[in-house]
Amino acid sequence: MFSHLAAEAERLKTIPLQQLMRQDPQRAQDFALRVGPLYANFARQHYDRQALDMLFRLAAKAELGAAMQRLVDGEAVNVSEQRAALHTALRGDISAAQAAQAAHREAQAALARMQALVAAIHADERITDVVSIGIGGSDLGPRMVVDALQKTHARLRVHFVSNADAAAISRVLAGLKPENTLGIVISKSFGTQETLLNGRILRDWLEDDTRLYAVTANQSRAADELGIAPERILPMWDWVGGRYSLWSAVGLPIALALGMPAFVELLKGASAFDAHALGTPVAENLAMRHALTAVWNRQAMGAATQAVMPYDQRLALMPAYLQQLTMESLGKCVRCDGQPVEANTSPVWWGGVGSDCQHSFFQALHQGSEIVPCDFIGVIRPDHGFAENHQLLLCNLLAQSQALANGKPCDDPHRAYPGGRPSTLLMLDRLDAFALGHLLALYEHSVYLQAVLWGINAFDQFGVELGKQVASALLPALRGESVAEDAVTAALIGQIRSIDS
Ligand code: F6P
Repeated sequence: MFSHLAAEAERLKTIPLQQLMRQDPQRAQDFALRVGPLYANFARQHYDRQALDMLFRLAAKAELGAAMQRLVDGEAVNVSEQRAALHTALRGDISAAQAAQAAHREAQAALARMQALVAAIHADERITDVVSIGIGGSDLGPRMVVDALQKTHARLRVHFVSNADAAAISRVLAGLKPENTLGIVISKSFGTQETLLNGRILRDWLEDDTRLYAVTANQSRAADELGIAPERILPMWDWVGGRYSLWSAVGLPIALALGMPAFVELLKGASAFDAHALGTPVAENLAMRHALTAVWNRQAMGAATQAVMPYDQRLALMPAYLQQLTMESLGKCVRCDGQPVEANTSPVWWGGVGSDCQHSFFQALHQGSEIVPCDFIGVIRPDHGFAENHQLLLCNLLAQSQALANGKPCDDPHRAYPGGRPSTLLMLDRLDAFALGHLLALYEHSVYLQAVLWGINAFDQFGVELGKQVASALLPALRGESVAEDAVTAALIGQIRSIDS
């Protein structure tokens, strides 16, 4: 599958990116795509038209179009768990397939319940604050969207708590009054330890359990663990993966913080992108181009890590959100059929908000020995009136991508910039719910399509289970009731207990 890729990479490794740009300046225009409010420019990727053609042939061979159709139709794309991954049905009616239609109807019914709940909570003047408890996919998406789009004078303040470290919930609750606070416990399984522990703390602190709500696919467990009545539970389903779930009632904190119309706009924005990703030929398909570029950088050019830098303070949580989306989905070393993957899968995703990160890790991006492909994300029109700041921000965004690609020679090797460092520039016309929906759907589909290209399952995450099992088994040893079997862990517990007793 990847043999042509390797041959193209060998050819291009002898042609510097700077030379590719010089030979074909028209690529600045031709390697760009626009979908609604989202513009993407791939001209600074280290490939040329010939390599792109080969990538398009790879897409055809991997049948990416058919794979998109299988996803939206609700086929069991999560093969190891024999489940669909129907996040597209949460945000639109994009497929006529029976499974997708049934899922969409359930999603619409849940959305109507959510709408009524949001209206009731907004109308209750006693409620000023909401505490949302969840972790991973039950936290990162809603937290990031609220942080990105919240207005300064919102009707409700929404706080997020995820960590097992009770320092997090202690800090949040310290500033709140129970009688003015509403709690939401979000957990697809309702079996996640951190969430249950924090949920119990919140329930006891609230004193009045009529102000505690849940979003879960496991209603009975929500009742058993926290005594939450069915009328205060919004549904989740096994056909939605946790990290793809912000479009469901898991997005309740978003709707409470931003209002229901903004939440619906977010869904519409994502659904519009779904239609693009499903119905557009590979050469113009932004999700496919992004996925092919990722596989090119990882597989052909051997990049072990991928950085993402939003140049917008409101998108500061995007790197953390994308870490879960990409690495929980693509961090696999066996194929769907259980055989080892004969390729390098997920790079390590990392990043930070610009321009801050220019003053921390950018030294390594410009002069380090590893080449790190970058996704730069910018917003063309700001939401504030400080034009000078925004111009400076945009100039920095453009400058970094240019400097990384072009470099700058110098006789003094310490002061020389090698250049040749690839990046993609993603720009939103403005940061509103509709545009953000596009951006998030782009990454979701790119991740799925990368998984298809590698032949792996983007929708399970068995890799996180072992650590949870080991942690549970260690509790008796930490309490001094037994001795840990593992010698190193036993020594570490000895240290902890010697200080902690
Ligand atoms: O630990 C990983 C994980 O299973 C994620 O995939 C998931 O988003 C998160 O935990 C939270 O799970 P739940 O929503 O079931 O509490």
